[in-house]
Amino acid sequence: MEHNLTKEEIRLIQMSWNLMTLKSKTTGEKFYANLFKKHTDMAELFKGDIKEQSGALMRMVKTVVEGLNNPQIIIPALQELGRRHREYGVKDEYYKEFGNLLVETIGSELGSDFDVKTKAAWEKLYDTLGRVMKN
Ligand code: HEM
Repeated sequence: MEHNLTKEEIRLIQMSWNLMTLKSKTTGEKFYANLFKKHTDMAELFKGDIKEQSGALMRMVKTVVEGLNNPQIIIPALQELGRRHREYGVKDEYYKEFGNLLVETIGSELGSDFDVKTKAAWEKLYDTLGRVMKN
């Protein structure tokens, strides 16, 4: 993945991710609960068990977060993931709301540890992620 995250932004993302996994084991499930409440059009596309789905999403985000120092390694996997999402019926315009909610959920898990710079770094990361997946 081509990204233009600075070293400082990478550090903020990795630090906040680690802190979040220490604070909460249920971020993924909270995220999907929010998503399904707010976006029934997206909810319809999910066929499987939500606990498994949460696990899959969180594992993928973990892989990306840990791979930020070596982005070229994870690009092909993300492109494949994006192709599969088209098959799942995911429209390009869904990515934005999905991302807003994901960053919001991470933020509410972290509370005051989620500062303005950390938030901006996550938004920048998700933006790039979404772009790679859609291409
Ligand atoms: C950064 C963005 C995203 C990541 C990292 C991500 C990650 C994943 C992963 C790891 C899976 C497991 C299956 C697979 O690997 O193919 C999955 C499945 C899925 N995702 Fe995503 N996803 C993202 C965005 C979205 C968006 C925007 C939607 C829109 C609704 C979405 C809807 C789905 C659906 C419908 C499935 C299949 C569920 C099923 O088979 O029941 N994803 N996603």
